[in-house]
Amino acid sequence: MRHLISPLDFSVEELDTLMDLANDIEKNPEKYAHVCDGRILATLFYEPSTRTRLSFESAMNRLGGKVIGFSSAAASSAAKGESVTDTIRMASCYADICAMRHPKEGAPLVASLHSSIPVINAGDGGHQHPTQTLTDLLTIRSLKGRLGGMTVGLCGDLKFGRTVHSLINALVRYTGIRFVLISPNELRIPSYIRDNVLEAGHIPYTEMENLEDAMPELDILYMTRVQRERFFNEEEYIRMKDCYILDKAKMALGKEDMCVLHPLPRVNEISTEVDDDPRAVYFRQARYGVYIRMALIMTLLEVSPC
Ligand code: CP
Repeated sequence: MRHLISPLDFSVEELDTLMDLANDIEKNPEKYAHVCDGRILATLFYEPSTRTRLSFESAMNRLGGKVIGFSSAAASSAAKGESVTDTIRMASCYADICAMRHPKEGAPLVASLHSSIPVINAGDGGHQHPTQTLTDLLTIRSLKGRLGGMTVGLCGDLKFGRTVHSLINALVRYTGIRFVLISPNELRIPSYIRDNVLEAGHIPYTEMENLEDAMPELDILYMTRVQRERFFNEEEYIRMKDCYILDKAKMALGKEDMCVLHPLPRVNEISTEVDDDPRAVYFRQARYGVYIRMALIMTLLEVSPC
């Protein structure tokens, strides 16, 4: 039995196979409409979510399976003090596979050690968000035709943004990737990513504060929200929250074939006037999230079309 806790749990070759499957699901959805008949997905979400939970539910429904779960800790027996390990033991009795989001880093890993069904990390604290990374990789590969040989700008809250941490871990495995890390000094990438991943892997990167300066060289611009829920101090959040706002004027500085991604939700960091720009692909990215989660559920359940 396999779990997905980190984006590195799949090799580059396995990721290619997964993305090929997702692309085939997109083209031939009817072929996959019943591959999970009789199977149940449990969505155990201790933190708020729109995209991750609903795209998992959409994915399982589109595969013919069913979904059970809870959407907040308050709506589960966690509110009465039940542990994650006991909760996953219960989910193992009721479902065939589970997606878990939790505010504590490592909670899905702990769950996987006590589970008799595959556990998918749907986001753990400020740590990792591997299925968002799979979504991001599929979006980039589908729209740019490759995953290597490009300059990737990551902009915003690089300190608390778990999607950024996961994406860096995943992209460094491809050749010719260069990162431009754009953030205020207070929200710089954590040292464990800078030292253990970028420096240790001899990955070229630059850190800067000014988004305009970075724009002309980027093939991908990955915008992120300032993560209010991870700040200890509301005043500090208010000071930081609008540190970057991507608007038409800044987009005019970018390459014609640049792609703008965002894991969403957005707050103010991308002006709605950018939404109609063909380079703004964040809503298409959310759609790719359904296909890759369908492919992931099939892979972890070891099912395929007849
Ligand atoms: N991208 C993402 O994780 O969105 P949600 O928090 O809405 O699931």
